[in-house]
Amino acid sequence: MGVEVVVDGLTKSFGRQVIWEDVSLTLPAGEISVLLGPSGTGKSVFLKTLVGLLRPDRGHIWIDGYDLANCNENKLYELRRLFGVLFQDGALFGSLNLYDNIAFPLREHTKRTEAQIRQIVMSKMELVGLLGAESKLPGEISGGMRKRAGLARALVLDPEIILFDEPDSGLDPVRTAYLNQLIVDLNAEIEATFLIVTHDINTARTVPDSIGLLFRRELVMFGQREMLLSSDEPVVRQFLNARKHGPIGMSEEKDVSELEAEAQMGQDPGALPPIPPQLMPSGNKIRRTQQPPGTWLAANGVIPPQGSFVDERGRNWLEEYPRLINAHLNGIR
Ligand SMILES: Nc1ncnc2c1ncn2[C@@H]1O[C@H](COP(=O)(O)OP(=O)(O)OP(=O)(O)O)[C@@H](O)[C@H]1O
Ligand SMILES: [Mg+2]
Repeated sequence: MGVEVVVDGLTKSFGRQVIWEDVSLTLPAGEISVLLGPSGTGKSVFLKTLVGLLRPDRGHIWIDGYDLANCNENKLYELRRLFGVLFQDGALFGSLNLYDNIAFPLREHTKRTEAQIRQIVMSKMELVGLLGAESKLPGEISGGMRKRAGLARALVLDPEIILFDEPDSGLDPVRTAYLNQLIVDLNAEIEATFLIVTHDINTARTVPDSIGLLFRRELVMFGQREMLLSSDEPVVRQFLNARKHGPIGMSEEKDVSELEAEAQMGQDPGALPPIPPQLMPSGNKIRRTQQPPGTWLAANGVIPPQGSFVDERGRNWLEEYPRLINAHLNGIR
């Protein structure tokens, strides 16, 4: 079972450039969270800070009772081993074949025999659908395969926390859909704590339990998916609905004159679109941290837009979910 990560008052700057300030959030153990934000708002910097590759100016990152942001080198090395990271470009070694790339962390960080390593590497390659591609070099395979190889490598040390930096960038919509399903299935299986940075609105709307949004050097909001998807906060609304209307412009922030012009033209952001059902694991599985659809909305007395929780096949998940739970329980019995 994954561990909780509590970020408290985290601030990071490079020289005089403040990247973000006073970021506080909790990644619940075993849950899937997504972090959104316009380009350049420091999402990758945030992931690198979480894993201890960058040191923050202020604040704390609590994991298992230790403050990763303020511990000594030995402890940091130990805490880092809880993480698996899928970097933006896969970060594979170009001269090593996929097998050796994926075996690398095991050879580097453990004293396992080559036979044990083989068993682990092959099982992770099978998990991400790369069996048969062991001897391929990263340059010889597609971007989607490189992502999956990066994911396999992030998994070999059995991480409790997995950070994904734009796992879906550069993938076609079909591959993105497969990757999202893989991420959800993986979470159901290993129950680690996931944080995904993405620009893909569909991923953000359907995959996570919680969503956060970085904008103008601060974390605008972090909370359950249904809370963000039903939010009236202009930046959240604009971002999650991929609209031009709102505070975010091409160069991150619109200036006052642009915003005034928009207001004068009487544009309004329009009605909120329906909240889609959350992507479920394949094969009647239920993730341990999964909440039934509508949980947050009901608890907070928020009525979702018409057509919420209906999937592309027309099934209403408010009715479908209890049925799935029964099928799941029957499967266990
Ligand atoms: N090592 C570094 N030294 C100095 N500045 C840096 C460093 N790393 C990142 N930055 C700056 O921090 C800011 C945030 O960068 P970051 O890569 O985290 O953005 P991002 O939100 O991941 O963007 P994108 O969505 O395009 O990937 C940028 O202005 C970048 O120039
Ligand atoms: Mg980035």
